[in-house]
Amino acid sequence: MDLYLAPINSLSTYAFRKLCTVYEADYVFTEMVWAERIIEGNEYEEKKLAIDDEKMTIIQMITEDTKNIEPFLKIIKKRFPNVPEINFNMGCPQSSLSQKCIGGGILKDKIKMREYSSELFKACNKYGFKSSLKIRTGVDFPDLQSYIDIIKEAGVSKVYIHARTLTQGYVKAANYDPLKGIEGIEIVVNGDVTDITSFNKAISVTTCSGVLIGRAALNDPTIFLKLKSKPYPSKKEVILKFLSLSKDTQIATVKRNLSWLTMHIVGGASVRAEINDAKTVEDIEKIVEAATI
Ligand SMILES: Cc1cc2nc3c(=O)[nH]c(=O)nc-3n(C[C@H](O)[C@H](O)[C@H](O)COP(=O)(O)O)c2cc1C
Repeated sequence: MDLYLAPINSLSTYAFRKLCTVYEADYVFTEMVWAERIIEGNEYEEKKLAIDDEKMTIIQMITEDTKNIEPFLKIIKKRFPNVPEINFNMGCPQSSLSQKCIGGGILKDKIKMREYSSELFKACNKYGFKSSLKIRTGVDFPDLQSYIDIIKEAGVSKVYIHARTLTQGYVKAANYDPLKGIEGIEIVVNGDVTDITSFNKAISVTTCSGVLIGRAALNDPTIFLKLKSKPYPSKKEVILKFLSLSKDTQIATVKRNLSWLTMHIVGGASVRAEINDAKTVEDIEKIVEAATI
């Protein structure tokens, strides 16, 4: 059973992905990367493609036009030939995207869904990448079987299913029921996996090859070790390890991850308050070393 770090915009950054691989995530997702921006050479977007563990990294792409898929993959193949898989975002509920036919918005238009899936499969096949989609179970109501039929017909053989509908956003508990009976495609389950109990619940609903973990890993990247019943380091060690990997990261980005890493722990609020004014990673290291957490 593979364990994946989910794509998390602005948070599944280079340093955080590296941290998760240290703590035995089997695969880590990049943040979603806009194909058109990479094709144009956009500097900000380029930073999302800082990758060194190619074989463990899955690139998540998003685009507003099927014609960008092939040129994007051509660039990726040249730069990261050993990346195993390209994932296409069809689950983002952000209204600026989902009101158009982008991200989760694609789930509203099955003709477009077929077109995007088929272009993705063709381009991935051309460049030797595995193709996969990340979807939700439906728009307003679960409609999973019809999505799976389209995806399979297009040739895509793997799907990550966030067990919520698009309109649910992130509220209410994940509902795995729509996954029951889905077969003939490789499934990775996603939504609300936070510990061994929720992990066992998620994998019990369907035959799946893995579990994708988002927010729980942001809070505690040792979740991968914990789910493998392996020893894990203290929170302080985890944060210091993260900081040691963050020397080349912008300080605002480091602080964003730290606000998740220090959530729900005794002493976390005072660390967050203290690092507010810190200007460098070294300043933060001193604060964390002195803290009682
Ligand atoms: C702040 C935030 C940013 C996210 N960014 C992305 C993204 O860029 N691409 C994507 O497919 N999903 C994104 N997601 C969704 C997660 O990948 C995941 O599907 C969701 O959080 C449910 O999993 P969890 O319950 O384990 O967190 C994001 C979620 C959060 C909370």
